[in-house]
Amino acid sequence: MWVLLMGAIVVLSFTHCLYRWRNPKCNGKLPPGSMGFPLLGETLQFFAPNTSSDVPPFIRNRVDRYGPIFRTSLVGRPLIVSTDPDFNHFIFQQEGYLFQSWYPSTFTEIFGRQNVGSLHGFMYKFLKNMVLHLVGPENLRKMISEVEAVATTRLRQWSCLESVELKDETASMIFDLTAKKLISYDSENSGENLRENFVAFIQGLISFPLNVFGTAYNKCLQGRKRAMRMLKNMLQERRANPRKEHMDFFDFVLEELAKDGTLLTEEIALDLMFVLLFSSFETTSIAITAAIKFLLNNPHVLEELTCEHEGILKARENPDCGLTWGEYKSMTFTFQFINETVRLANIVPGIFRKALRDIQFKGYTIPAGWSVMVCPPAVHLNPEKYVDPLAFNPWRWEKCELNGASKHFMAFGGGMRFCVGTDFTKLQMAVFLHCLVTKYRFKAIKGGNIVRTPGLQFPDGLHVQIVEK
Ligand code: HEM
Ligand SMILES: *[C@@H]1O[C@H](CO)[C@@H](O)[C@H](O)[C@H]1NC(C)=O
Ligand SMILES: *[C@@H]1O[C@H](CO)[C@@H](O)[C@H](O)[C@H]1NC(C)=O
Repeated sequence: MWVLLMGAIVVLSFTHCLYRWRNPKCNGKLPPGSMGFPLLGETLQFFAPNTSSDVPPFIRNRVDRYGPIFRTSLVGRPLIVSTDPDFNHFIFQQEGYLFQSWYPSTFTEIFGRQNVGSLHGFMYKFLKNMVLHLVGPENLRKMISEVEAVATTRLRQWSCLESVELKDETASMIFDLTAKKLISYDSENSGENLRENFVAFIQGLISFPLNVFGTAYNKCLQGRKRAMRMLKNMLQERRANPRKEHMDFFDFVLEELAKDGTLLTEEIALDLMFVLLFSSFETTSIAITAAIKFLLNNPHVLEELTCEHEGILKARENPDCGLTWGEYKSMTFTFQFINETVRLANIVPGIFRKALRDIQFKGYTIPAGWSVMVCPPAVHLNPEKYVDPLAFNPWRWEKCELNGASKHFMAFGGGMRFCVGTDFTKLQMAVFLHCLVTKYRFKAIKGGNIVRTPGLQFPDGLHVQIVEK
């Protein structure tokens, strides 16, 4: 009898719990969707690997069933997914008012609790000003010859090898360049390898937060620990030996920390540094690797790109001069190529926010505190905006509207939080491509397969042979 009663209570409370989970409280009409099981939600489906470059099956299936705005649950949190251009636009415009930057717990654990999610207000402005100062237009102009020198050196080294794995090699190239700009880090004169600690990051960030030995998430956390220790040592070293000129991140931080009443702490500063190093090199090196893969698969695009860059060399009066800013600005096709690369690569599969209040949109209510994910792949692969969306076609950008981030292009985000590194990335990509196609030929050796989990990965790299023309 008691056993039966207990059993009934367990079953009842479980169904109640399940019911509550699947029918969350809301002062209005929630977007349709399913919440999966308590806590687990639909996490496993979301992270299921897929080799296609199309809209992830997780998103596609739910859009077909529920429409462009639907609800789900990831790692224990209710989440609204938006593939609706108007809603995406609204979310970006309302940054800081109705929505606030928010990232899954994997992000906050890896990037530091002080960070990402709390990059608003002061910290956020500080970070943005600093980045804009370090890689703003004035500095970019001065950087062009340095970027060219680095690309030239690397390409020369690679051309002596039978085969190079581009994902790793470009990561190392971009990391060295960025770390030198941001923190004056010189990999050749440093005992420890800072970059090693950032390996497997994208996988770990957008992954299931299971912190046991061997998982991508665990590797990330370990890497973070070591990287933070190195950064801390570097900051202390700089404090002991301050410099006059040469403003980099550490100089900024020390200057700010010395001010009366500053909100910046050493801990926050190191967290910021860590995010910045990561977001600047991993994304750009994936973009370059994807670009080379697209060139290998589309010889006519390579032909046109080569033509543009050979044209620049031919028109140059003094052949011993390096790339100029004017030449860089004249690379019309290259910029179309870069747009097309980041559109189709969809390096950032989701942009996360949190609703600060109950929000009404198109008849739905998003309850305060819920997370919202804008889904760039759904926008970039929409056949109504991009004809034959899976085709790599840089020419489609020829007749495109000329404004920074449009409703239909958000590879670098949108609104107030638009990526501050966009121009830096474009410069690095364009200059690298210039050096590559004018002096070298390259062919695929092996690898180049992509997997999305849903973040873009090259699980077996991209091995190519590079030979001088
Ligand atoms: C292909 C390369 C890159 C891609 C695809 C990319 C993508 C993005 C996206 C989608 C966002 C918006 C995130 C959000 O709204 O929550 C963002 C923000 C940001 N990116 Fe990038 N990024 C790239 C390169 C870089 C580089 C090179 C840097 C640094 C030098 C950088 C620094 C940042 C920072 C600091 C933010 C935060 C801006 C803010 O919150 O206002 N990114 N990026
Ligand atoms: C990927 O998604 C497609 C549907 O979009 C599906 O047919 C395929 O089986 C999935 N799996 C893999 C491993 O690519
Ligand atoms: C790349 O895309 C952006 C955003 O839509 C646009 O403003 C820019 O003009 C595009 N560049 C080229 C060369 O088409």
